[in-house]
Amino acid sequence: MKIIPSKRIEKLSSAIFTEMANRKKDLIKKGIDIIDLGIGSPDRPPDPELIKELIEAVKKPEVYGYPSFQGNDQFKQAIADWYQFRFGVQIDPSHGEVLVLMGSQDGLAHLAQGFVDDGDIVLVPDPGYPIYSGSVHLAGGTLYPMPLLQENDFLPDFSNIPKEVLQKAKLMILNYPSNPVSAVAPIDFFQEVVALAKQYDIIVAHDMAYSELSFDGYRPHSFLEAEGAKEVGIEFNSLSKSFNLAGVRVGYVVGNAEIINPLMMIKSNIDFGVFEAVQILATKALQRDIQSPNQSYKVYQERRDVLVDGLNQLGWKMDKPKATMFVWAPIPKGWTSYRFAIELLDKTGVVVIPGDAFGIHGEGYVRIGLVQEIKRLKEAIQRIEASGIF
Ligand SMILES: Cc1ncc(COP(=O)(O)O)c(C=O)c1O
Repeated sequence: MKIIPSKRIEKLSSAIFTEMANRKKDLIKKGIDIIDLGIGSPDRPPDPELIKELIEAVKKPEVYGYPSFQGNDQFKQAIADWYQFRFGVQIDPSHGEVLVLMGSQDGLAHLAQGFVDDGDIVLVPDPGYPIYSGSVHLAGGTLYPMPLLQENDFLPDFSNIPKEVLQKAKLMILNYPSNPVSAVAPIDFFQEVVALAKQYDIIVAHDMAYSELSFDGYRPHSFLEAEGAKEVGIEFNSLSKSFNLAGVRVGYVVGNAEIINPLMMIKSNIDFGVFEAVQILATKALQRDIQSPNQSYKVYQERRDVLVDGLNQLGWKMDKPKATMFVWAPIPKGWTSYRFAIELLDKTGVVVIPGDAFGIHGEGYVRIGLVQEIKRLKEAIQRIEASGIF
């Protein structure tokens, strides 16, 4: 029998990610010591106090039933309290303004199915985190990539989007602080987004998974801080990066209840929510954060300084990001992102991701993850120096 997956599934895989992973495996087999700066996952464990909370939670017999899939009341309240504390934004958990997710990926992956019929347009950042386009492909929608260019501070230029596209657009996905470009958005930009969304009836979904990983005293804005934002949009957030809890799979979406509702309906048909013990853990994490704000960002800030200063000294020039766990590094002239990443891997054993893996406007860059300890980052710098690439 011939087994043929759907065309939608084919569109989900990125050949570049697969190729990098295969090359890495081959080199490991040959005994090469790989320094993997390609992954986008925290490398440190969570605070030991949080692990203790989880241990206590799993001892409770009552956590083993089906969870309350929208999120338990305590967790939803903790999310609302945290939004008030962190951004001064009011969220009403008792009126559908919060939905708990199995990581923000869960919500982002299902989002477009809640709004998009065949052919409806979705505006996505290019380069952008792959599930934004993945979600649109799964829903059978049509992508309209919004180029994120350095000359525009990696913000989309709405004046370049044709009016017919804006008229047909159902949804816009944004992400600040952003993966992979590590850009941040001023509140004025979010205000502009609200105005555009109102003018053209476009639903806005903002992904803020990196809200807490910001540096040098900079604090990213929530989209919901913009006036009128809750009339047009929702915001995804996650405990994966802020609390090193990527493996427990917990995140949430907040904002406009009418926009959250279709997502909730989809999820109520697909899963039955997040394990109660995990929701207890996540509640404690947010409550603790209000008492004593977490310092996870410090690790990445220090790594950023070591990596960017070291590479700049070698002549590989790049800016220091204000947030996220990535550096978006322009590659030297004469290379494509892909050829450069392969050359780097073959000559130094250092894995970075070619920018075009995230969309065509990522060409000319590589994404370097700050996901190894400083000793390994220094070693990566030494290897790059010895390679003679610069
Ligand atoms: C921009 C962005 N959004 C969302 C996610 C998904 O995170 P999670 O599902 O762990 O909350 C990631 C993970 O790397 C990400 O980089």
